[in-house]
Formats: sequence, structure tokens, C-alpha cells
Amino acid sequence: MSTVLDSLLPRPGSAPDRLADAPCLTPAAKRQRGAQQRQAKAQSLLSSTALLRMQETERKRIATDLHDSIGQSLSALSCVINKGLVGISQGRTQVAGEMLGWAAVQVKAAILEIQRIAMDLRPAILDDIGLIATLTWFFREYRTLHPDLALLSEIGLEEAEVARSLRSHIFRIVQEALNNVIKHAHASEVLVRLWRTKRELHLEVADNGSGFEFRHDELALTDGYALGLSGMRDRAEITGGCFRIVSVPGKGTRICVVWPLLLP
Ligand SMILES: Nc1ncnc2c1ncn2[C@@H]1O[C@H](COP(=O)(O)OP(=O)(O)OP(=O)(O)O)[C@@H](O)[C@H]1O
Ligand SMILES: [Mg+2]
Repeated sequence: MSTVLDSLLPRPGSAPDRLADAPCLTPAAKRQRGAQQRQAKAQSLLSSTALLRMQETERKRIATDLHDSIGQSLSALSCVINKGLVGISQGRTQVAGEMLGWAAVQVKAAILEIQRIAMDLRPAILDDIGLIATLTWFFREYRTLHPDLALLSEIGLEEAEVARSLRSHIFRIVQEALNNVIKHAHASEVLVRLWRTKRELHLEVADNGSGFEFRHDELALTDGYALGLSGMRDRAEITGGCFRIVSVPGKGTRICVVWPLLLP
């Protein structure tokens, strides 16, 4: 079921062209229409480039995850099963039993790892309980795991006010931003805010940690940084949002995304 805001959100290439039906256009109106069309084309191009980049990044992450975790677990599993088989063929049932025990542990670990990767790809609870409840759950887990960091949250809207198409992207951006705070910021406080105005939906994750030197040009984001920041930027862009980072060394970092809502 789509929400009211799904239809209000701009889609790449579908900017409203209110002048299209006008029977006769003044030169100024023609220029305005041309500018609108060029802007829609540029947005569409930007979105598809960001989408391809994001897919490629995610493929890399999945490949690494599969290789490093599942691949290792299955190799270990194959090894203990072989030892177990040798034990059986030599009538050493105790060794074979021990190996089977190890195999069971490896299988359990692999199942947990697959669940983690699946959760990383798409948190199932987002579909089941919605964005706000998923964020609340994630914040709770985060606070338990990092008791020395004060995580504050201000969610100033209802579930139905967030377009369905945006929900998993918002969750992923928050998840990556909060993971970065743990990995890099050495902060004592982080604040996550999600709210909307009449025209825009806003997301902010701000910490009071170490901050970093950040060059806000396209090249820096794509080449100079790892996958996390560019992934957040790509998620913002493919959904028609605008991504900004403000970071001051010694003071902290603020990640902001603003999605425009089209007025009816
Ligand atoms: N909140 C933050 N505070 C301080 N430094 C940060 C913060 N977020 C990002 N950084 C800096 O920006 C760099 C790039 O972050 P990014 O998320 O792209 O990569 P990563 O976290 O190192 O790796 P990945 O996200 O791909 O696992 C980090 O290595 C870190 O130096
Ligand atoms: Mg990161």
C-alpha cells in the first residue's frame, strides 16, 4: 500500500511540467519549460549513475562478506567433515564424533553469518514493523553495545509521513553514520534527528567527536573515501535527496540529508 507521501516525493525524470498542456507559451514560459526539462534530465542521469554505483558498492560488500565469512566457515566445515569421514573409515568413532560436533558448530556459525548478511542487505523488520520502530530497535541495540556513548534521538514525524520508497535508505544512512561514529569519532554524544517541514524531509546525524578534514567535491567522495560516505551520498541521490557533511576537526561531524517534498 503506498502512502500519501509516496506520491508527493519527486521521482527522477518526473518533475511536474505544469506548462506542458498550455496551448500557447510565451518566450519566458518556453525558457522555463526548457530549464525544467533539463533539470529533470540531469536529475535522472545523476540518479541512475548513483544507483549503478550503489549497486556496485553493495556487490563488493556482499562478495567480501561471502568470501571472508561464509567461505571460511564452509572451508572449515569441509575440512572437519573430511577428518570425520577418515575417522569413520578407520573405525575411530570417537574422533569421528568429535569432528561431527565441530561440524555442527561450524554450520550454526554459517547460519548466523547468513542471517547477518541478509539483515545487512535488507532488514526484514523494516517491512514488518516500519521505519520508526526499526530505528527504535536499532537505537536500543546500539545503546546496549556502546554504553559510554550517549545516543539521543528526536523523531518528529509519523510512520505514514515517510515515503515507503525512502524507508530502507533512511535506515541504512542512519546505520552507517552511527557505525562511523563508533569506528572513527571517539564521541561522547550523538544525536539522530528525523523531521519534516511543509516542503522537505530532513535527516541529521551529529556527533561531538574528533571530526575530520572533509573535501566536499565529487572526486573526494568517490575516490578519496571508503564506501560508507559515498554509499550514504548515493542513497540520498537516487531518492532525489541532497547529501551534506559538515565536519570540523576537534568538534564533530554532522551528516545531513534533505529530501524535497513536492507541493500538490
Ligand atoms: N563521524 C565521523 N567522525 C570522524 N571521522 C569520520 C566520521 N565519519 C567518517 N569519518 C572519516 O571518514 C572516513 C571515511 O568514512 P567511510 O564511512 O566512507 O569509510 P570507513 O568507515 O572507513 O569504511 P567503510 O564504511 O567502507 O567500512 C573514515 O575513515 C574516517 O576517517
Ligand atoms: Mg564507514
